[in-house]
Amino acid sequence: MAKETALVTGASRGIGRATALRLSAAYDIVAVARSESELKSLKGEIEIGGGVCRTIALDIADEKAVTAALRGLEVDVLVNNAGVATMKPFLELTSAEWHNMVNVNFNALYYVTHALIHGMVERKRGFIVTIGSLAGRNSFVGGSCYSATKHAVNGFSESLMLEVRDANVRVAVVMPGSVETSLTPSSGDQSWKMTSNQIADAVWYLISQPDSVLVSRIEMRPSKAPRHR
Ligand SMILES: NC(=O)c1ccc[n+]([C@@H]2O[C@H](COP(=O)([O-])OP(=O)(O)OC[C@H]3O[C@@H](n4cnc5c(N)ncnc54)[C@H](OP(=O)(O)O)[C@@H]3O)[C@@H](O)[C@H]2O)c1
Repeated sequence: MAKETALVTGASRGIGRATALRLSAAYDIVAVARSESELKSLKGEIEIGGGVCRTIALDIADEKAVTAALRGLEVDVLVNNAGVATMKPFLELTSAEWHNMVNVNFNALYYVTHALIHGMVERKRGFIVTIGSLAGRNSFVGGSCYSATKHAVNGFSESLMLEVRDANVRVAVVMPGSVETSLTPSSGDQSWKMTSNQIADAVWYLISQPDSVLVSRIEMRPSKAPRHR
């Protein structure tokens, strides 16, 4: 029997790459990001494990490019993972940094989800997981835009969840705290952070629930704050 398909944005590294690998035993993967060489490396690793991976090199902040690239794709699981973070005091934040975060973390949710959700509703089957953040309910210095986009992720995800659940399309959000990735510059011991694989396991947990169950939000954080490690 043919496998179902899972599309993961931001699959070139970090949480998205780990999620694509985690899902590849059960799903054919469509891996989306801008970095072709990193996508190629992911495809190779999935194929060595016996899986199937199609790569799409795409800037998800480009609405026309997204619409053209995803047209006609039948996707059973969408993982909206791609994100960018520039943590800076608002007074120092440039207009370009602001717009990049809003475009990738928030506007692209419309472009990618809209391209795929109609098919899910017609087939009466689908799962949409968005990677939000604990920044989606916490405020912090340097987070005026990033935190705002992640608050928006929660509003988007929870409203959409209520709109499409009767069509058997389940929508959920994963809100991690600190994960060891290249999202923001960091130095020193990072071993107290969660790993990308642990977030990938949470995505797997959500989508492997029975059809009659919808776990719509997961909050997760390192078990100890860095000062206690
Ligand atoms: N790391 C953390 O502590 C943490 C905590 C909470 C939530 N998160 C969230 O987790 C998600 C993944 O972040 P990460 O930590 O794994 O970061 P990462 O390692 O920097 O990966 C970010 C991914 O997003 C992709 N991306 C960025 N801009 C893109 C664009 N315009 N078009 C297409 N893809 C784009 C990147 O691919 P290309 O550069 O190849 O395009 C990359 O694959 C984000 O939504 C982030 O906000 C992270």
